[in-house]
Amino acid sequence: MKQSQELLTKIKDHTAVVGVIGLGYVGLPLVREFCAAGFKVIGFDIDARKVSMLRAGRTYIRHLPAGDFTKLIRGRRFTPTTDMGQLKTPDAILICVPTPLDKMREPDMTYVRGTTEEIAKRLRKGQLVVLESTTYPGTTREVVRPLFDATGLKLERDYFLAFSPEREDPGRTDITTRDIAKVVGGAGPDSSLLATALYGEAFTTVVPVSSCEVAEACKILENVYRSVNIALVNELKVIFDQMGIDIWEVIEAAKTKPFGYKAFYPGPGLGGHCIPIDPLYLAWKAREFGKPTRFIELAAEINTFMPEYVINKVIHALNTRRKALNGARVLVLGLAYKKDVDDVRESPSVTLIELLQQRGAKVSYHDPFIPAAKPMREHNITHMRSVPLTPASLKKFDCVLIATDHSSVDYDLLRRHARLIVDTRNAMGRKKQPTRRVIKA
Ligand SMILES: NC(=O)c1ccc[n+]([C@@H]2O[C@H](COP(=O)([O-])OP(=O)(O)OC[C@H]3O[C@@H](n4cnc5c(N)ncnc54)[C@H](O)[C@@H]3O)[C@@H](O)[C@H]2O)c1
Repeated sequence: MKQSQELLTKIKDHTAVVGVIGLGYVGLPLVREFCAAGFKVIGFDIDARKVSMLRAGRTYIRHLPAGDFTKLIRGRRFTPTTDMGQLKTPDAILICVPTPLDKMREPDMTYVRGTTEEIAKRLRKGQLVVLESTTYPGTTREVVRPLFDATGLKLERDYFLAFSPEREDPGRTDITTRDIAKVVGGAGPDSSLLATALYGEAFTTVVPVSSCEVAEACKILENVYRSVNIALVNELKVIFDQMGIDIWEVIEAAKTKPFGYKAFYPGPGLGGHCIPIDPLYLAWKAREFGKPTRFIELAAEINTFMPEYVINKVIHALNTRRKALNGARVLVLGLAYKKDVDDVRESPSVTLIELLQQRGAKVSYHDPFIPAAKPMREHNITHMRSVPLTPASLKKFDCVLIATDHSSVDYDLLRRHARLIVDTRNAMGRKKQPTRRVIKA
């Protein structure tokens, strides 16, 4: 029997073993979906601490309860491991490792390449490998495939390769992973067929496209679209503010239009592992074709300026109270890059803290989900601890800067006890009776 036919049968009768590499924000929900669909899953990670925590029934991502995985581990549906030797066991391997930027703000392929090398050492006939990490168009064919071809195995005859972008939105509760349509592009017809069949067993909707490159480009389009639209409202926020118009009220009115408009919201700058980074992957690749990416560059320029804009608002707000930022006590509310998650990657809150400190402010932070600042590659705020939010603690600060609008924060408490609030998320504006102590930024 042909390798592809054999694998298709295993996928259809759920005897195929699925391997997920990278047990993070993206990999773990994927593990859960494939286990729920009845597959046995082996989860690979180089971080031994994460694997031990999973085995011990503990979690390292707040919105993914450890209990979900403990049950699967006990029932032998899910095996987390650091042993890459086991990569020869799965019939399908899904790669969910990080794709950050390097020091020169160019694509850092270290993780994708490292993982691909580990798979290549053990690649066997009949395996399907799918890259899920967000990346520039061409990665699957230009970075992953050559390492597999070097083993002597032949694509589409011996092994199968595809790209399927990860569209997880951590913390979102109105849609489950299973119900987020899965776009799939194969490196050939059989690869496409097998990857489509596999995801079809675990996801409600699968959207096959004609190539890996289309699937890679699809994810980049989605994130460029977000970055550009966020930049647009950030720019309009600055202009409208000068005109005495509240951008938040404008957006609420605009979104009543039933077509042709989708609401995006301004903020203190971009954060997270995706929006600040992914567009730059395309910008880098476009240079190979001698093409400028003006929308991407402009959006990055506007969004990157936002923390400076917010700091100027803080300076101005303090000034109206005859206070200088130098020496002022400022509480940054929210360290995570967005509400209701504990993820600080690329968080603008960290940039705000550093800018405030550079200008002589005494800065503290409060985040209900981050009791102590986590180590970050390019920042050093690990000495900081979340301060409690009480009437007494609030009174100690000259200004509270709302950087993240976590739902569990008591904004009425702020309203009653904070001396001055600079609000980048309209967290206070949603309440009635705005006061002069609240300044939007
Ligand atoms: N977090 C999101 O919201 C999100 C959404 C969509 C897409 N993505 C994309 O998904 C990919 C993964 O992101 P994430 O947020 O899950 O990252 P993450 O850091 O939460 O998880 C990645 C995991 O991979 C592990 N890892 C790194 N190198 C490895 C290797 N060589 N072998 C095995 N494991 C390795 C890390 O230890 C980590 O646990 C990225 O490309 C990202 O852009 C992320």
